[in-house]
Amino acid sequence: MAAPLPAPLEPGLEGRILTPALLVDLGAARRNIEAVLRLTAGPARWRPHVKTAKIPEVLALYARAGIRRFKCATAREADVLAGVLEAESTPSGDILLAHHLYGRGLDRLAELTARWPGVSFSTLVESVDQVAELPPGPGVFIDVDLGMGRTGIGIGEGDEIRAIARAAGDRFRGLHAYDGHRHEADLDERARLIHASYDELVSLAGSLRDADLAPSEVITAGTPAFPAALKHVGLATLPGSVHRVSPGTVVYHDLRSVEQLPDLEAEFAATVLTRVASLPGTDRVTCDAGSKSVEGTGPDRIAEVVDHGHLKAISQSEEHTVLMAEGGERPERGALLRLIPGHVCPTVNLATHALLVEDGRLIERVEVAARGHEALA
Ligand SMILES: Cc1ncc(COP(=O)(O)O)c(C=O)c1O
Repeated sequence: MAAPLPAPLEPGLEGRILTPALLVDLGAARRNIEAVLRLTAGPARWRPHVKTAKIPEVLALYARAGIRRFKCATAREADVLAGVLEAESTPSGDILLAHHLYGRGLDRLAELTARWPGVSFSTLVESVDQVAELPPGPGVFIDVDLGMGRTGIGIGEGDEIRAIARAAGDRFRGLHAYDGHRHEADLDERARLIHASYDELVSLAGSLRDADLAPSEVITAGTPAFPAALKHVGLATLPGSVHRVSPGTVVYHDLRSVEQLPDLEAEFAATVLTRVASLPGTDRVTCDAGSKSVEGTGPDRIAEVVDHGHLKAISQSEEHTVLMAEGGERPERGALLRLIPGHVCPTVNLATHALLVEDGRLIERVEVAARGHEALA
């Protein structure tokens, strides 16, 4: 494991905690933010996606680090984040609700825009029709598909993209191109493919500029792509546009990110404390954190156990994870284990509350306020 292990908890604390429990180390999260800011040479080029952070006290760390611009995926994230930006007196807060909104979703965006007048909101579109449906106020980013095939208008559709920008008029903010499909194991090959698609993005931005529709911002890259993205000279020097990257997972870091970016300087800031509930058979250990407490990226990468590398997570049910003791001692019934999640973003979203710690000391129990969806009627 490339990242340092989480700091041990202060003596006596573990035993007082009702398991399973999400632990978030504020010091580690702060250092992870600082590590990205070193790579981006300051806050101007980072528009973090807050779908990972979810906790107001962690969102406040971004604001205190000087970050003003954010991306989110849900209205609840936008609402909680806007509240944090106001509480932190963040000037010129800027939130891109990076989803395609329809019906009640557009009404909700209008409500957020009215509720938080100090924040500049924007959203995504991929057609001229969508522009016509937007409520007055929010800015517009054109969602461009670089090959992920999830959302957005194809990068080759220059005429249509210019038509959308024209339709958006002075609400047109820029281009949003998320390349979440770029996680090739060979980092040089990944960088080559990322840069090839960014060359196309630079041409697209140039054609918009030529049509007097210059994008003021071009947003790319989550965690696996952002170090390579920052090295693309064409995007970094786009006349009249700022290129921003939008990694989000990095604030807590996880096993998947270690695999995708082995050299990233980051710590595991979110772990799940669990207890050994049962010792089935002769070589298994079952703990009380299941798929409702910790999420991996599949059966091969559920979680790793801090200080117990020989315990391999082999299966999960809702409130149990079964670990195989491979060639080492089995911990006793009732023993406490700390799990590093395979995929931290859904893991944090599973918890209603988190225990904030710093250097192993408990600070407070807080709500994971931006988790889930609002289901408003
Ligand atoms: C549109 C968009 N931008 C940015 C991100 C952040 O990427 P990561 O989770 O790799 O940090 C995501 C992740 O799902 C995303 O969907």
